[in-house]
Parts: sequence; structure tokens; C-alpha cells
Amino acid sequence: MIRLTLDGREVELNAGELLIDLLLRNDSKVPHVCYHDQLGTIQTCDTCMVEVNGQLVRACATTVTEGMKVESKSMRADTAQREAFDRILANHLLYCTVCDNNNGNCTIHNTTKMLEVEHQNIPFKPKPYEVDKTNPFYQYDPSQCVLCARCVEACQNVEVNETLSINWEDPNPRVLWDGGKSIGESSCVSCGHCVTVCPCNALMEKSMIGQAGYMTGIPKSVLNGMIEMVKGVEPDTGYGAILQVSEAESAMRESRTRKTKTVCTYCGVGCSFDIWTRDRHILKVVPSAGPTNGISTCVKGKFGWDFVNSPERLTKPLIRENGTFREATWDEALSLVARRFAEIKARSGPDALAFISSSKCTNEESYLMQKLARAVIGTNNMDNCSRYCQAPATTGLFRTVGYGGDSGSIKDIENAGLVLIIGSNTAESHPVLASRVKEAHKLRGQKLVVADLRKHEMAHRADLFIRPNPGTDIVWLCAVTRYIIDSGLAKTEFIHQWVNGFEEYKKSLEPFTLEFAEKTCGLPIATLKQLANMIVEASGVCVLWAMGITQHSMGSDSSTAISNLMLVTGNYMRTGTGAYPLRGHNNVQGASDHGAMPNNLTGYQKVDDPEVRARFEAAWKVKLPTTKGLDNHLMIEAIHDGKLKAMYLFGEEIALVDSNANYVHGALSKLEFFVAQDIFFSRTCQFADVVLPASPSLEKEGTFTSTERRIQRLYQVLEPLEGSRPDWRIIQDVANRLGANWNYRHPSEIYREIAALTPMFAGVTYERLEGYKSLQWPVAADGTDQPLLYTKGFFFPDGKARLYPLAMREPSDAPDEEFDLHLNNGRMLEHFHEGNMTYKSNGIREKVPDTFVEVSPELATERGIQSGTWVQLFSRYGKVRVRALVTERVTGKQLYMPMNSSSSPINLLTSSHTDKETHTPAYKETSVRMVVLDETAGESPLPRVNSRFHHPTPQMGVEVERKWKRADYQIPRGVPVAAAPKRS
Ligand code: SF4
Ligand code: SF4
Ligand code: SF4
Ligand code: FES
Repeated sequence: MIRLTLDGREVELNAGELLIDLLLRNDSKVPHVCYHDQLGTIQTCDTCMVEVNGQLVRACATTVTEGMKVESKSMRADTAQREAFDRILANHLLYCTVCDNNNGNCTIHNTTKMLEVEHQNIPFKPKPYEVDKTNPFYQYDPSQCVLCARCVEACQNVEVNETLSINWEDPNPRVLWDGGKSIGESSCVSCGHCVTVCPCNALMEKSMIGQAGYMTGIPKSVLNGMIEMVKGVEPDTGYGAILQVSEAESAMRESRTRKTKTVCTYCGVGCSFDIWTRDRHILKVVPSAGPTNGISTCVKGKFGWDFVNSPERLTKPLIRENGTFREATWDEALSLVARRFAEIKARSGPDALAFISSSKCTNEESYLMQKLARAVIGTNNMDNCSRYCQAPATTGLFRTVGYGGDSGSIKDIENAGLVLIIGSNTAESHPVLASRVKEAHKLRGQKLVVADLRKHEMAHRADLFIRPNPGTDIVWLCAVTRYIIDSGLAKTEFIHQWVNGFEEYKKSLEPFTLEFAEKTCGLPIATLKQLANMIVEASGVCVLWAMGITQHSMGSDSSTAISNLMLVTGNYMRTGTGAYPLRGHNNVQGASDHGAMPNNLTGYQKVDDPEVRARFEAAWKVKLPTTKGLDNHLMIEAIHDGKLKAMYLFGEEIALVDSNANYVHGALSKLEFFVAQDIFFSRTCQFADVVLPASPSLEKEGTFTSTERRIQRLYQVLEPLEGSRPDWRIIQDVANRLGANWNYRHPSEIYREIAALTPMFAGVTYERLEGYKSLQWPVAADGTDQPLLYTKGFFFPDGKARLYPLAMREPSDAPDEEFDLHLNNGRMLEHFHEGNMTYKSNGIREKVPDTFVEVSPELATERGIQSGTWVQLFSRYGKVRVRALVTERVTGKQLYMPMNSSSSPINLLTSSHTDKETHTPAYKETSVRMVVLDETAGESPLPRVNSRFHHPTPQMGVEVERKWKRADYQIPRGVPVAAAPKRS
């Protein structure tokens, strides 16, 4: 703690703090246009000038020191602040009443008011550039841009897409995209960071334009007339009177603009934000206070919400009759569902039915679905789509450290000395998490190693990028670990104190020599040694992995190998270390946590544990089934075998997302009775007997659990679209028609029941999750949560981790002479999964209209393929017709297909091979042959407006020093230039 004098008062504060933070905390009313607490010091606006020990300094660039004498309200400081703000206003026309940004939070408006500015000394001068509207989601108006460079800082150093800069040397500086391209044809990924932090209307969401204000929708000609009129009266009235009018208009907006906190519905990062709406129109998404993301979003969370108001939304239940669907009432549909479920149960027993929960829906909804399956029907045939991606990672962690979740938070990843990413296209699949890694790598010297088949963005940025042969990750992981042990580089003290099973495990590593790894993985021994040394030399290692590891026939073992490596190198139990399986869907962690699994009730309590069952039986007043049920994979088999006759699925696109789609379609068509519940008529719905119209996340309340094990509340932004219902209500309706007598009126009541039955969630309450508050499980009854796991030991009875012995097996579906190419697949930044929601966004469709297959330049030359050539891919299981995209992201005989397509879905090609432990399909083990179709090459499947074709302009931030070198730049000197009134 230090002491200083602030405006004559002694204050005590923490050393190292920025002076501006002290001033803002003390309500000192110091202006600050470029400073933003999540961007830090930028120093472009000069409006925060204060006197420190008699010298004028920028408060945002001054660190407090002992004995400092700060005068924030002196005449010199005040005059300097006004002078700086006058220069800001020379770049910005005040027309607040007819501005869509006049919503009470405009920094320029509020600073004008705070400084009681009446007139400008330097007149406004428009910049000689047109408004750029070429991005589908936002626009840039150079003439309103005050050149604060917040957007540049956000793009360069928070998002780290490095698209934006300012040409400080130009006579008329402005913000540039890729050094001077139109926004639409630049490397901009439309993440919206820049728009979020802009202090005025220079960067604005198009969804706001003409929509936010009472008079902002008026035609441009009338608008210009009004602006002229206002400018005309300003010399006589001053800004004060004009601002009063705009303030009144802004206050009126409050009554019709709703601001509701929600949690993103797309990926597992768990970004949260306010959504501004006017009736059903989404004005904008405002991230600021989210514990994970702060100001950050990706294109989907910021702009990908058109699907909510899509005319394709289902609003009536549908019943199949004579091979077609007819609309039905809710009463009719629910009665039919209950009658058919009861009939099938009575005839064939409860295990003839199966239930599939949704990783897109809430924890409460997953809980109710498994309660319906177990307590009402009496079966453990219950699963969710973590079976398709996450189960092997969870198994690897269960085997070694005890909990099946990320060992820490994203903050802990930021603190790592080295981040090792394996089989994860993090920048596209978990964009905001990737930004945190990119930032630490760019600004704080964090090392980055990437192992992947494709040279994606993180691979480009990596200090070391390795490309093992497909399906061989377990080999190099074990070989590197063995090399570390053999070289005496293992953390023996840590192992001795915290880890069991070392000798047996070490023995299992015998076959994994560096030579074997070199031969099997195609990685030079020198590279493997380099990697090993980087790991042992790092102050801490966080390893991130995803479907590139888990979706293999050795997914569980490879995940185990990762955790073993972390244990051998002592990379657990402190920040900056640990294992982070990146959960794909927004609530894939939560769906499993809340019992949507064939072997577990909530919180991974085993269905075959009598004590657990007794507790649930007492609460639910039923007898529960005692043995593990069928998982997704086994359900498909059981339908083919005639054992499974009915299925109830909600919010899952099993027909496109499960592997070997032809086989899955065959099964779904055999079901005697199939209920699909969704917001759109999905491919899966085509197989249903009854389709029930559900509501998306924005139309309901509940909780999601992100990849960090973070439980967050979402609030209802919009009323359910007429005719649709939140899933939890529908599940309750079905249960009650089957005689359950459930009476949940709100998801909070469901959570109360979950917490009472689940030690892992004992202290989770809606009150503790209010607003932006969150909890990371396990949560003790007193509400204490665990952002960092394993601080006092591992989650085993003796507190010790377990090294798990491993062996190598050959990958499935290997290439041969006929099927000579390896086909990989994954997500794209713009689309989520198969694209059911994201294709409803015109802007996203403009950027990525369809799927494609990536072909390496060498293979393209060999086969006569160009970007746009139609090819047919044949696997041992099916075929698809798709356009080629020639790119260096892939190499040699490896192909890659994004999974966002319903017309050419990747899963027509994948097999039914699975990880033996978890039955997760080996999606990434697919061999194909490619036939070039005799068709003229069409357009490139990715249009020129896609960011991937363009080149960012990285720099270390705003580069304000270049501004200060301008001949016309003068630091405010606090010398009065005009009679400035002393502000109140
Ligand atoms: S990538 Fe585009 S939207 Fe994101 S901050 Fe940069 S310029 Fe803005
Ligand atoms: S566009 Fe960028 S530089 Fe211009 S006012 Fe907005 S944030 Fe500041
Ligand atoms: S998709 Fe993921 S990274 Fe993007 S805003 Fe949503 S939660 Fe954040
Ligand atoms: S807020 Fe300090 S220079 Fe802009």
C-alpha cells in the first residue's frame, strides 16, 4: 500500500495501480476517451490530463507512486482536458438526437456533457472518405471517427486478428483494414471487438442503424437537414440546450430497449453478454462483464442470432400421417407421444425406449430428460452428444486425475509459459479462448506449440508446429514422455509426492522409442527432442486438445497419454498448468454433468451404485433401473437389431452428426416411434413420427456450463415464438402425460432439486449465479467453487494422481490402393457444426455459403484440380459431391472437409468404427478416393469476401508514437485558448 494526495485529500491505495483507475474510483470526473479498463493505456486522446507534482501528465499512462501530489481539477488540468477534447470534437459531428448511439453510454456525448462544452474552438471537419458498409454486420464512418484507436488496440492486442491500424502520417488519418482495403474484402473476421469498444458511432452494428432511436430511421436527406438546423442554432444556444433535447430522447429509448444478459449458444467458451432488443428485433450484442470473455466475442456470438427470428422456425407440432407431416395441436401431439411411449413400454419393456439430450440446451433440461428416462420410463438408455466428441477426453482425465473437466480456467491458460495445442483448430472452434492464447503469445512471451494435420491459424503462429501422420498422436506423446523420463528430466519430486503407478507406466512406454515415433509419426527425432525440451523448460504447460485427438479409435488412450505427460512433467496443481479438453458445444459439459449419460446420474454418480440410487429413489419416489444403459452408438446398433423401438431426442441433429450417416438413417427409419424436438425442421426431423417445436436459448431461462466448468445463468431475452415452447416445459408436459405429476414453474426449481441430489453442485443456487456471477464446479454447500482444480491433491481417495499404462493400436479405416486419401474434418469459425443455426444468418452465408473439400496444392496439380472443381468423394461407407478448395492448409494426400453442410455432410463418408472405451466415433479415421467430375470448374466455394484470402497487418498495438511525431501534434499545455467556464 502507498499513500498520495489527491485533490488535497490523502488516499491509500495499492502500489502499481494506474492513476486513472484511482481517479475513476474516486468519481473524480476526469475525462477519458481512449482509456478503457479492458484495453489499458492507449494515450491517443490526451483528455485525461492531470497535474502530478506540478507537471501535466496523462492519468491513463501514469502509475501511482508514494507521496505523489495529484491535482485533477486544477485550472491547468481542466484547460488541458478541454483543449484535448476540443480536438476530439473536431473529428466528430454532434447530432446525438438523431444518432443510433445516443443510448446513455456514448463516451463522446457523455464527455461533452461532463465538461459542459458549449462551443468548439476547432470546428468539425469531415474526413474525405465515404462510409464503409461492405461488411455485412457493421459499418465504419470515418467522419465520425475520433481516432482514439480503441478499435485498433482491440483488434491488434485483444482479438489479435491484427487487421486494423491507423495511418498516423496521413494528412487525414483514419482507421484502415489491412492497410487500406474495404472492410468486406479484408482479413476482418467480424468478431466485433472493434465495434464493441468504439466510444461513439464511428463503428456501429448495422442492426442498430435506423432502429435504436425514435428519429434515427428517417431518410438521409431529412437527417442532413436536421443536422444542419442543429448546427445553425448551436452558436446561439450552445451545446447545453441541444444536449438536453438528445438526453430526453435517449431517456425515452430506455422504455422500449430491453437489455438482457444471456450466455452464448454456440461454443463451449461460454461468452456472456447483454442482448439489446426492441420487441423481437435484436439491436446489438454488448459484451463487457462476462467472467470469461469481457469485451470479447466471435462472429457467431456477436452477430449470429438471425436464426431466432427465421421464418423457418417451427411453430406447430407435426405428426406424420401417410408418409407426410401434418400440423397438429400441442394437446394432440403430446397425447400421441405419451400413448405410444406407454404402449411400447408395456409391450417391449422400458429398455425398448431411448432418450437423447441436447448439449445446446440447458442443464435443467438435460436433468429433466434423464429424469424422464429413468424415473418415468425406467431406462438408463440416455445419452448426449458428448459421445461424439468429449467422452474420450473425459475418460483420459477420469483415469489419471479424477475429474473429467478442465483443470483450470482460461486465466490459467493465459498464465502458462507454454501452451501445447493438439488436434484443435482453436482459433476457429473456440475463438475467444484462442484470442487469449494469441495475446499471451504476442505480448507476454508465452510459447506456443501446435500438433495438427492442418496448418491453421494457431499453427501459423506457433513457435513449433508439428504434423504427425494421421492417427499417431499417442505414439509421439508417449515417445516424448519416455524421452523426458529417460533423460532424467521428469519431475521426480512431484511424481513421488503426488502420483501413483509410475513404474508400471514407465514399463508400458518401452516400445515408444524416439526411433519408433519418427517412423510411425513422420516426425524427426530432433523435433521430438526439441518439443520435449520446450516442455520441461517451460515455467508451466497447459495442454489444449479437442476432436483431432478424441475422434479416433484411440481417443481415450491418446487423451490419457496427454494427461500422463502433464503428470510426468509436474504440470498440474498450479496456475499456468494442466489439461484442458476444449468442449465443443455451449453446454456439452453441462449435459454430461447433469446426468444425460447411460451410466451416470447427475455429477457423475453411478447408476449401479446402490447408495446413489437409494438417494434418487427417495427423492423421486420411484424404483430406478440398476444397470448402465445404451449410449448413442449402441442405440443405433440396437435399433438395427430390433431391440430398440422408440426414441425421444431433443436439440440434436443425429442424422447429420453421428458417423456413418447412411447406417444411422437406416436405423432411424426402422424406429417404431420417434419424437424429435427442435427449433427447425432438421434432417433428423425427417425421420420422426412427431416433431415438437422448441424455443432457443434466447427464449428461456436456465444455466449452461462452459468448458471451464463454469455454470452461468441465461435470462429470457424474448418471449417464446408463438407456438413454440422451452424444452424443459415440453419434457415436463410429456412426463405429466405419462403420469409423473411434475410441477416445475421455473428452471430455478429444477436446479434446487439437482443441487440437493448432487454433491458436486451442492452450493449452486440461482441467487449465487445472479447476473454475471458464475460458479466453477465442484461447488461446496457454502458456495465455494474451484476455478483451479487439484490445489490440494487429485480427485482420488488418497489424493494422488494415477499414471495409466498405454499400448499402441493401429488406426481404423486405413488408406489402401483404392481409398488412397485421408479425409479429416472439423468446424469453421463462421458456422457452428452442421450449420442449422448459422446458415440462417445472411451475413454468415455471404462469408461462407457452403462446405468444400480442402485439397493440397501438390495433390491439386497431380489430379488437375482448381478451387471450384467439383469432385466426388467415395469412402467405404458412402459418397458426397463437393467443390474443391486448393489451399496450403493441407498437405500431400490429406483432405479436409468442414462439417457445415446438410447437402454434402461429411458423415456420409465416415465409418462406424469407434474408440473402444467410449464408443466415440473415429470420425478422423476416414479414407476416401476422389474422382474429379467432368464438369467445368465453378466458382471458388469460398468467396473473395472471406477473411481467409486476405492479409492482416500485425503491429504491436496502436503505435501512438507515430501520432506524436506529426508536425501538427501538440500535447495539451493547459494554457487557456478561450474563455473556458469552470465546470461544476
Ligand atoms: S477482426 Fe474485424 S471485427 Fe474483429 S476487431 Fe478486427 S476489424 Fe474488428
Ligand atoms: S472507429 Fe476506432 S478510432 Fe474511430 S472512434 Fe471508433 S474506436 Fe476510435
Ligand atoms: S461461439 Fe464461442 S467464442 Fe464465439 S461468442 Fe460464442 S461462446 Fe464466445
Ligand atoms: S484517456 Fe488518457 S490519453 Fe486518452
